Amino acid sequence: MTEVRALVAGNWKMNGLRASANEASELADLLRHGDEAACDVLLCPPFTLLMPFSHILEGSGIELGAQDCHRANSGPHTGDIGAPMLRDAGCEYVIVGHSERRTNHGEDSQLVGEKARAAHEAGLTAIICVGESRSERKAGRTLDVVDQQLQASIPGNSRFQNTVIAYEPVWAIGSGETPSRAEISEVHAFIHKRLANRFGGDGASMRILYGGSVTPKNARDLMSIRNVNGALVGGASLRAIDLNGIIEAYR
Ligand code: PGA
Repeated sequence: MTEVRALVAGNWKMNGLRASANEASELADLLRHGDEAACDVLLCPPFTLLMPFSHILEGSGIELGAQDCHRANSGPHTGDIGAPMLRDAGCEYVIVGHSERRTNHGEDSQLVGEKARAAHEAGLTAIICVGESRSERKAGRTLDVVDQQLQASIPGNSRFQNTVIAYEPVWAIGSGETPSRAEISEVHAFIHKRLANRFGGDGASMRILYGGSVTPKNARDLMSIRNVNGALVGGASLRAIDLNGIIEAYR
C-alpha cells in the first residue's frame, strides 16, 4: 500500500465573482509564507473562475479542480462541460456525484460512475462523493446506502492515483452538525475495506475525505480520525484564512 498523503479540498459551489480571486491569491501567499503543509491543497471554484484561478495558482502548489463534468467529452449538451475542457483549463481534479447534484439534478450513481470514467480518460482525478441522508441514517441504513453508491459510482479500472472518495453525510453539509468520531470512523473503515476488497493495494491507498461542516475549529479533531485522509470543505473554503485554518490540521 502506498503511503497516503492527505488532501484538503475547497468546494466553492455556486459562489464567487472575479473579485473573489483575492481569496485564492491570499491562500497562495499564506501557503508560501507559512510552515509547509503535510497535505495537498485543492480549490474547486465555479467554472467561470477556472481560467483566472489557473493563472493565480500557478507555482503555488495549490491544485485546481472543477465541481462537475459531463459523461461525454463534447457534443450537443447545452450548458454542460466535458472533462477534456476542464483539463484544458488547467484542472487536475473534478468532483462528481456531490449530493447537491444528486438531489438538484437527479444524478444517480450509474451516471456518477460514467462521469468519473470520463474524468479518468481525460487525465483528471475524480473526487467521488457518497453519503447518506438524515432519514437513511435514522433508519440504520447508512452503510447499505454508502455501499450501493460506492459500487455503482466508482469505475472498474480506477486507480489510487486518479480516484478520491469523499464521505459527506447529506445532513452534515452546511448544517453545522457533524457525526460523532465513532460514526465517522465506522463509515471510513467500511469504505476503506470495500475499496481494498475491490481494488486491492490500489483501493487501500485511495484517499477517503470527510466532508460536512468542517471548520478551522473542528478540523484537527476530525482529521485525526483513522482512515480520514483529508477534508472536502464547502462554506469554510470561501475565505483563505478559514481554509488555511483547516490546512493547519496538517502542520
Ligand atoms: P460544508 O459543505 O463544508 O459547507 O458543509 C461541504 C460540501 O458540500 O462539500
